[in-house]
Amino acid sequence: MTGPRILAVSGSLRTQGFNRKLLDLAVTHARSLGAEVDVVDLKALGLPLYDGDVEAAGLPPPVLELRERLGKAQGLLISSPEYNSSIPGGLKNAIDWVSRPPGRLFHDKWAAMMGTSPGVFGTARMQPHLRQVLSSVGALVLNTQVHLPKAAEAFTPDGKLKDEARQKEVETLVGALVSKLKG
Ligand code: FNR
Repeated sequence: MTGPRILAVSGSLRTQGFNRKLLDLAVTHARSLGAEVDVVDLKALGLPLYDGDVEAAGLPPPVLELRERLGKAQGLLISSPEYNSSIPGGLKNAIDWVSRPPGRLFHDKWAAMMGTSPGVFGTARMQPHLRQVLSSVGALVLNTQVHLPKAAEAFTPDGKLKDEARQKEVETLVGALVSKLKG
């Protein structure tokens, strides 16, 4: 018997990004609950910018790969910064590519949103935008989310969250996602 399959992605391409750290914590917890988690590295994947002419000529290999990996997943876990109060272009571009036919790869998949930034907003202004986009492609976005302000002070040197209440928030969100997928 296998656990629920989750695709995890950081909306920041930065290798040492705070959102990768937050995602790592969530992934560790999801695995401890029995989920199988596939972590997509958008930088390594190297998606081109969405372009209808490129699409018409045949989906590029990174797009096919992302579509296949999302196709195998039952749920989504995203940790993303906000850029100018909204969704980073790299993440939006990935969603746009995968939203195209054939298939409805996001449809009826549960999604959990998290995000962190060095400022006080902690991605709270971006998350309604991401919720709207994910909902419009058919995902079922959990009604709770995590936004973590002051990212530069939030993590211990070994990548844990200093504030136990924040750690608990992450674990509760991931627990809710895994429960939905175990249904
Ligand atoms: C930012 N950043 C930012 N932060 C924020 O809290 N609100 C914002 O609107 C923006 N806007 C913004 C635009 C652009 C183009 C960049 C590059 C950055 C700062 C951002 O939160 C910070 O760089 C984070 O550390 C990025 O996340 P990672 O890479 O650490 O996960």
